[in-house]
Amino acid sequence: MFTTMSTAPRDWLASRAEFPILSRKTYLNTCSLGALSTRVRSAVNQHLDLWEEYGASAWYKIWLGECAGLRASTERLFNAPAGSVALAPSVGVALSVIASALDYRQRPKVISTVLDFPTIPYQWLAHPEVEVVLLPSPDGVHVPLEAYEAAIDERTALVATSHVFFASGTIQPIAEIAKLAHAKGALCLIDGYQAAGQVPVDVVASDLDFYLTGGLKWLLGGTGIVECYVRPSLIPQLKPTVAGWFGHANQFAFDPNNFEFAPDARRFEVGTPALAAVYAGHAGMQIILEHGVAAIQQRTSELVAYLVAKLRDAGYQLTIAGDPQQHAGIVMIQSAEHAKLVAALAEQGIIVDHRPGHVRVSPFFYTVEAELDLFVERLQALSQ
Ligand SMILES: Cc1ncc(COP(=O)(O)O)c(C=O)c1O
Repeated sequence: MFTTMSTAPRDWLASRAEFPILSRKTYLNTCSLGALSTRVRSAVNQHLDLWEEYGASAWYKIWLGECAGLRASTERLFNAPAGSVALAPSVGVALSVIASALDYRQRPKVISTVLDFPTIPYQWLAHPEVEVVLLPSPDGVHVPLEAYEAAIDERTALVATSHVFFASGTIQPIAEIAKLAHAKGALCLIDGYQAAGQVPVDVVASDLDFYLTGGLKWLLGGTGIVECYVRPSLIPQLKPTVAGWFGHANQFAFDPNNFEFAPDARRFEVGTPALAAVYAGHAGMQIILEHGVAAIQQRTSELVAYLVAKLRDAGYQLTIAGDPQQHAGIVMIQSAEHAKLVAALAEQGIIVDHRPGHVRVSPFFYTVEAELDLFVERLQALSQ
């Protein structure tokens, strides 16, 4: 029914077959939840089949092997060295472990921004010894590099911000932010939940200390699985006080007298992983690795440019970066009626989302232009 306008060599239209929802709905909400693929469903079924067949004997070789496989695939996605990725059930949990390992005595400041997903500032607002500084945004789209530069000082422990802002889609210059943090001896943590999968990530080239992402959105793996990179040279210095047997160097020794940190990033893991989420997260990530993030970004940018032009032609005001190079697959349309419009569109089978004052639309590689046409047409009809 639909055709694509991509000049990319990939057959994006064929990729839609893997996502059953696309034949039933106009799905434009990957930044809230990536579409479920048949591959992810099969991976979860595979976990259940193994559970039924082998019971606990699946743990040692099969299930722990799948966890190791997901860490390794994440290292590939991040261009990170082996042993630098830990698994967690949510960004909040991963942040709790990291926050517990930092020393705030000489450096009590943690810098974040008003545009970050609030779970980042919440983590440090819950630490009474930490002074949280939230950088303002002049336009609701960017936080200027000068604001980071002016705020980071010798009292700063950490700069914690996003690769892509969840409510504007702006791609931040993370290598520059890390450089500013390091110039004052601070660490740099990047929340890549809205970036990894749709924007290339190179934690080494960007010289990052921590990078977090997860299955929920652009990695197509659903809930309950988060991946966390920690710079290898930092790992031996960091001793989290949130701990559990999965972070032990030799967890199957069951020695209650000694806690020995795992030498690699696994010291940031706490307890038994939710295996269905590990299977789903790994299968979703494999789809992304197969298509390649650079190709996905190119296709998503074409779709975003198409949508933005259509919306502007129709007279809508957008809260997005002016430079398309700084903008990922999230388009914010200003509207006082955002919740009402999103509910009415859902009744017509068009799934988008809202954030305060905006309808939020997020096309991905599996979107086609005809779906964007339909969305704009229905939005206009409802806005009249
Ligand atoms: C940028 C960003 N970070 C974090 C989260 C969620 O964090 P958690 O895994 O703790 O729910 C979201 C949204 O769900 C997000 O958009």
